[in-house]
Parts: sequence; C-alpha cells; structure tokens
Amino acid sequence: MTQFDPTQPSTTESGAPRQSDAHSLSVGNDGPLLLHDVALVEKLARFDRERVPERSPHAKGSGAFGEFEVLDDVSKYTKADFLQPGKKTRMLARFSTVAGELGSPDSWRDVRGFALKFYTEEGNFDMVGNNTPIFFVRDPMKFPDFIHSQKRTPDSGLRSANMQWDFWTNSPESAHQVSYLMGDRGLPKTWRHMNGYSSHTYMWVNEQGEKFWVQYHFHSDQGVENMTNEEASKLAGEDAEVHRRDLFDSIARGDFPSWTLSVQIMPYEEAKDYRFNPFDLTKTWSKKDYPLHRVGRFTLNENPTNHFAQIEQAAFSPSNTVPGTGLSPDKMLLGRVFSYPDAQRHRIGTNFNQLPVNAPVSPTNSYDKEGHMQYHHSGAAPVYAPNSYGRAHQSTEATVENGWEADGTMVRAAYSLHAEDDDFGQAHTLVREVYTQEQRDRLVETVTGSLIPEVEEPVLSRVFQYWKNIDAEVGQAIEDLYYEKTGKTKA
Ligand code: HEM
Repeated sequence: MTQFDPTQPSTTESGAPRQSDAHSLSVGNDGPLLLHDVALVEKLARFDRERVPERSPHAKGSGAFGEFEVLDDVSKYTKADFLQPGKKTRMLARFSTVAGELGSPDSWRDVRGFALKFYTEEGNFDMVGNNTPIFFVRDPMKFPDFIHSQKRTPDSGLRSANMQWDFWTNSPESAHQVSYLMGDRGLPKTWRHMNGYSSHTYMWVNEQGEKFWVQYHFHSDQGVENMTNEEASKLAGEDAEVHRRDLFDSIARGDFPSWTLSVQIMPYEEAKDYRFNPFDLTKTWSKKDYPLHRVGRFTLNENPTNHFAQIEQAAFSPSNTVPGTGLSPDKMLLGRVFSYPDAQRHRIGTNFNQLPVNAPVSPTNSYDKEGHMQYHHSGAAPVYAPNSYGRAHQSTEATVENGWEADGTMVRAAYSLHAEDDDFGQAHTLVREVYTQEQRDRLVETVTGSLIPEVEEPVLSRVFQYWKNIDAEVGQAIEDLYYEKTGKTKA
C-alpha cells in the first residue's frame, strides 16, 4: 500500500522521484515543451480532473468529527447497539445550505442541512436532517421541481424570487416550512447555534420486537441564535465562509460544540388515528401529545485534516439504518433512500463506501463488486450466493422486523387526511402562537423584501393570498407594506 510521507522528496504518482516541481522540460531555456515530460503531463491531467460534481442540493457546507454518548436509557424502545446506556460512538457531522452552489455565501437565507453519520459496531447509521422539523413538499415526485425552483432560471442563469414564490404558492403544502424559513431561524448565527431535526418519522424496534415511531431532535447546547437580514447581507459580502470558519476555528481552539439528542416516541398503533398524519413531512407532532425523551449528546471535537477527502467525499444517506432502527411510510423518506446512494455513485464513484470517511467500522460481506476504484475486495471467495464454499449468505424468509403492514390499490394520491390535517393550520400556529409580535414584524419585512423588485403577477397576488391563508393579519400586513414600499397602486 502506498503511504504518504511528507519527508520524502516529491515523487510522481507511480512513486518515482520527480526532478522538479517548478520547471517543465523544454528544448533549451526558451524552447518548446515536450510530450514526454511525464511529470508535467501527469500534473496537468490530474489538475484537470480535481473537481468532482458538487452535491446537487446542499453543495456548500462543512463539518467535523466527534463523539456521541448515550446519557439516558431508551433500551425499552430500541435495541440499536449504539443507543444502549453508556455507549460512545465516533461520528461525523456536515452542515450545509440547500440551494446555493459550492462557492455561495454561508449567510444567505436558506434551510440548513444537518447530516450526521454514526460509525456504529452494527454498520453506519446516518441521520440526514435539516435545522427545521418539516419540509416544503410531501411527495418525492415534487422534490426535483422544488430544487429547480430554488436554483437558477434557464435563460439568464440567475436565481429568481419570482420562480421560488411561483413554486411555493402553487404548492400550498410548503406553507409551514416557508413560515419557518422566512422567520428568524432562516438565518442562523452559526451552525453551532442551530438545532437539527430528523424531520421525518422513523422507526425504533426493541429487543421484544415492539415497534415505535420516533422523531429525532438535536438541540444546540450553545443555544439558538440568529442573524438579522442586515448582518447576513453584510457577511455575504465580507466573509462568505463565515459558518465554515466559525466551526473550524471553534474546534481548533478547543471550544467543542455539542447537541443534545431527544426523541418524541409514538406507540406504533397510535399513528393510525393521530390528529396529524405522522408520515406527512410538512407536519410536526405536538410535544404535548408526545413529549421529548432525552437520549444523549454529541460533541464535535476533531476538525477534518483534509476537507476534500473527509467532507466533500462524505456520503450521507437516510438509507443507512442499523438493527433496532428503521424507516417509515413517509413517501419523501422512501424516495430519499434511493436518491442518495444513487447520487453518490455518480458524484464520487461506484465504490464510495470504501473511502475511509464512508467505510463502516464493522466488517462487511457484500456480494456487490468491482466498478471503478474498487480497493477492498473479497479475494478468491465465491462471488455468488448461495454457494457451497463457505462464504456466508442469508436466505431466510421472515417478516421484516422493522417493517409495517400495507395493502390497498395502487394509486397516485395525496396522504389520507387525519382529523386536523390541512396545509395552513400548523403554519398558522407557528406564526401566531410561537412567534412574538416582533418576530412577526420581521417576517413581514423579510417576505415583503423578497418580493421587491422582481415578483410579478399572477405570482404576486397569490403570495398575498398564501400568507392570508396562513394568517389573515400577517397576509394583509405583507400586502400593505409591499404597496407602501413600491409606491405601486393595487390593480
Ligand atoms: C424526496 C426528497 C429528497 C431528495 C430526492 C433528496 C436528494 C438529495 C440529494 C441527491 C442530495 C445530495 C447527496 C450527495 O450528493 O451526497 C441531498 C443532500 C442532502 N439532503 Fe436531501 N433530498 C430530499 C429531501 C431532503 C429532506 C426532507 C431533508 C431533511 C430532512 C434533506 C436533507 C439533505 C441534507 C442535509 C443533504 C446534505 C447531506 C450532506 O451533508 O452531504 N433532503 N439530498
């Protein structure tokens, strides 16, 4: 195996000594260059290939390694080894913005990604969440359209508030998430000062095979702090990497940020007639109905030593579950478990799971093989299952312990409605009952600011109506402020 040794004189990639890192081979001092200057050709060819495709959403981000420690006993709800009392597990976190590209400012208003990978003894467990407990859409069919509407227009290549509001107001299920995004939490002060959420409902299974639905909450031990619009715009110009820098510097000086994990737990049977559909990603569960149970804490205490190898090539996916955990019938989640590893096979390469940052610490025995850059392999062991030559394989038929029952006709339809399900109810509660008057005033300013100068009819009128559906007073205030600021007269 080749080893990096910074004390060795520099070499070509095949290990031969390089004559120079500074001078190419030419015919005479001023002469032409030569194709057989292997060192130059290799250097330029490798430079030409340095970038891998950026993540399609969540391109800009950074992260760090840390440790997760279980503090309370949740063994009656899950048998997952890494969630048992006293357990400590090495982990990786990556925080990100959603819509901006790789070089975009950290401080633009956006949802923030909150991706965690736990290197457990039973395989990798990933929790790929956001800093908000809900999402814009509830069906994976709409996700690419949603992201397209947040990125760039086809003709000018510019981002467009008109396009964003057109998508949101034509997708009323976005109201709850948009109310979050336009509120103070759309501009976290640093990544250390924001919470993380699974947003989806997931499953836990205990030793007896009993199942529970759970929602994960990661509360910042630094507290939640946000920026104002003015601070965020200023920083976008002065320090586009403000969040990346803050996390790296804070860990480098020994000020290790931490988050406390709590879960809401719903007994399996209660999902059927809970007042909100618990698998609809645009809804939260009331904490009065399902209080938080503390589980443990993770602390980030180790910076990456190589951003590209350990952060850019990190591959998180909600499909990475371990025994005692599982998915749920949330359609978005079921779409995501295909999309992430598929994106990573394209973005990083077929064998992305073999890279040190992605490789599980537990042994593997997978019959998947070959493709670009295979490094670990199964030697001369049989390459097929079943086989009679000693390589283990499974062929048991059994009920899936972390599954759920389903029957019915195949349909393309919205979720079945539970008693209090609608698009605007929880958004209204957030804006009217959780936000203070000052926060509502800032929300009105922010939304109005995002409409000027670009948002045009018929989108504009729909935006006013969308907000009136969320909260009549707030909707009217946005409309009034818009006409006051623009000096236009209402059509
Ligand atoms: C059907 C819906 C969704 C699809 C198809 C989807 C797809 C993707 C894809 C393809 C990536 C890039 C992965 C990579 O290249 O490594 C990504 C990144 C990400 N997504 Fe989603 N996504 C969906 C919904 C969500 C939701 C609901 C959340 C949060 C609850 C979320 C959080 C994230 C995060 C945090 C990242 C960045 C992960 C990292 O740091 O590497 N996504 N998504």
